[in-house]
Amino acid sequence: MYENIITSKEATVLTITINRESKLNALNMATLREIKEAIIEANKDKEVSGIILTGSGAKAFAAGADISEFVNFNSKQATKMSADGHETMNTIERSGKPVIAAVNGFALGGGCELAMSCHVRIASENAKFGQPEVNLGVPPGYGGTQRLIQLVGKSKATELLLTADAIGANVAMEYGLVNEVVPIEDLIPRCIEILNKISSKSPMAVAAVIRCINAHFEDGVDGLKTEIDEFGKAFDTIDFKEGTDAFLNKRKANFER
Ligand code: COA
Repeated sequence: MYENIITSKEATVLTITINRESKLNALNMATLREIKEAIIEANKDKEVSGIILTGSGAKAFAAGADISEFVNFNSKQATKMSADGHETMNTIERSGKPVIAAVNGFALGGGCELAMSCHVRIASENAKFGQPEVNLGVPPGYGGTQRLIQLVGKSKATELLLTADAIGANVAMEYGLVNEVVPIEDLIPRCIEILNKISSKSPMAVAAVIRCINAHFEDGVDGLKTEIDEFGKAFDTIDFKEGTDAFLNKRKANFER
């Protein structure tokens, strides 16, 4: 069904693997479209509680947008490429089911932007992050200038964006770009462990929290007002009945997906 990604389901976790290892998982437009479709499908699939996004091989998560694809683009084509890429990143960020980036190597340019659109980033010790677009004569085009500021603050983001320096996993963690650094063999197991923990919580509340967090970063949206609305709406859900009933009856909540 997909040509550039592989999807596999284990228990309730869907793993999306970018499958262009010989090109260091460079993100051509078809790959980004397929990732978007897979995220949309996963959100409709009742069996899926969480999603891991990773790259094939041990060298790269994704080494950026596919330079050979866009090298001859004109301004109009580039604008569409950027807008389409933004749509994929926004789809990931707005996924009601948590998406964890399992960063298994280079996450450069579009690869770093893809990781930043995920809700959580776990990196292997060999991971490298950077926004090298200024080397190519362009600014980042998939949200890098905005999400890097959100994650590491303006000072470090400006430095990284202007110098094109790549940073290792431990520095990325120190900056707040990644949540954890683990040995490569622990990368997927650790992501599964986090997703399994989240999957025992109320799926409706998890999705509501994601909407509230995103509201903080949306222009013209009052995040605190969003929280009030989401809090109120939650009281009409079966998850609220189940969660509170379980607590009061000293039993473990059993939420339906
Ligand atoms: N777009 C298209 N192809 C890419 C790519 C990209 N972003 N990144 C890597 N590749 C391809 C290379 O062209 C090469 O293909 P080939 O074997 O057909 O020549 C293959 O992937 C392996 O990459 P290579 O450069 O030989 O590996 P390396 O270990 O020497 O270097 C990197 C690794 C990541 C440092 C280097 O590939 C690189 O700088 N990539 C581009 C990073 C970038 O600028 N990204 C932002 C794009 S907007």
